[in-house]
Amino acid sequence: MVISNPFTLGIVSKKDFCNRSEELETLLRHARGGNNVVLLSPRRFGKSSLVYKTLEVLEREGFLCVYVDLFPVISERDFIERFSVGVFKGIGWGADPRTIGRKVLNMFTRLIPSFEVKPDGVGISVKVDRSTDADLLLDDLMDGIYKYVKGKKIKACIALDEFQEITELPESKKIEGILRSHIQHHKEVSYLFVGSRRRILMDMFSKKRPFYKSAFSYALKEIPEDEFIKCIVARFKESGKNCSSEIAEGIYEMVRGYPYYVQKLSSIVWDLTTKQCDPEILQQAYRLLLETEGIDFEGIWSSLTLTNKAVLRAIAKEPTASPYTREYLERYQLSLGGAQRAIKNLLNKDLIEKVLDGTYRVTDPVFGEWCRLL
Ligand SMILES: Nc1ncnc2c1ncn2[C@@H]1O[C@H](COP(=O)(O)OP(=O)(O)O)[C@@H](O)[C@H]1O
Ligand SMILES: [Mg+2]
Repeated sequence: MVISNPFTLGIVSKKDFCNRSEELETLLRHARGGNNVVLLSPRRFGKSSLVYKTLEVLEREGFLCVYVDLFPVISERDFIERFSVGVFKGIGWGADPRTIGRKVLNMFTRLIPSFEVKPDGVGISVKVDRSTDADLLLDDLMDGIYKYVKGKKIKACIALDEFQEITELPESKKIEGILRSHIQHHKEVSYLFVGSRRRILMDMFSKKRPFYKSAFSYALKEIPEDEFIKCIVARFKESGKNCSSEIAEGIYEMVRGYPYYVQKLSSIVWDLTTKQCDPEILQQAYRLLLETEGIDFEGIWSSLTLTNKAVLRAIAKEPTASPYTREYLERYQLSLGGAQRAIKNLLNKDLIEKVLDGTYRVTDPVFGEWCRLL
């Protein structure tokens, strides 16, 4: 019998989903109470997985659950179409999607769902009148959601993943205004605004912006070490191999508990292990991790300006709370203005972060190591 690698690099669910019980409870409590939440963390920390899990539970409680990934959004219309498809999918969740047409009759005046039967199920898209103003479409969508929820006497939870991406659209200010005008009145519908570019997302909820004081902010942290260790050890055991708690601890610590890398490093260790893993395998696996991730990192690196690269490498080599002191700037041959602009840009991209004690460091620990080795 061939046993496959038990570690997951996509959305985790069921028994691959490790811990996060407190976080789940918090999100559920807010949704049941009709509160909006901003869920923030670096990328690949487990936000989407946690949101899916939350929606699964709420769906069983009778909520209308909507999930929309805004990462690929390219225009205002594209945003509205993705959002609408998410709503229609939510309405059809668990049922034959072709019944959606009947369910949404008279809810939306300008948006019409259309269906296409494909080998892997029914694809949903939405037809909109090209001549209709985009603002009216968005109003129609938001009104329709409330009509649906009111009509059915249910609650709804709407998750907008990578929400900060709408700030890239030229119409973003207007979209923020329209969304805000709808979300503030309805206790039945709670929103989960999710994002990886934390600065940009937090700015959207700051003073002078439409979303100010409209949501609780919730920073997703690492999965606690002891919980993750238990999960790693169990996955090895179930798949006929053996990983001691010490090695699992090593895995966790080498990647600073960063969830995606804990899984990826575990996965490589698993591949290299015949029966019993040991510290040598762990070292070898870490080298392989750096190598495979390097392809991604090269892409990120080459998209940066020279000053950004210089600052990033400085912070990777020497995390600091005072990057603007003369000594630091001289050591890394940086100008004050250049360093300030680069730090702002790197923070906006979430490539670096400022941690509690004020230290700037590279957000992604493996990318940090890769930069140090350059
Ligand atoms: N609860 C969890 N248990 C185990 N691994 C997790 C968990 N959450 C996230 N991960 C790991 O992190 C990776 C990224 O998760 P994802 O939900 O896509 O993060 P994000 O949305 O923050 O980018 C997953 O593929 C998985 O390897
Ligand atoms: Mg995600």
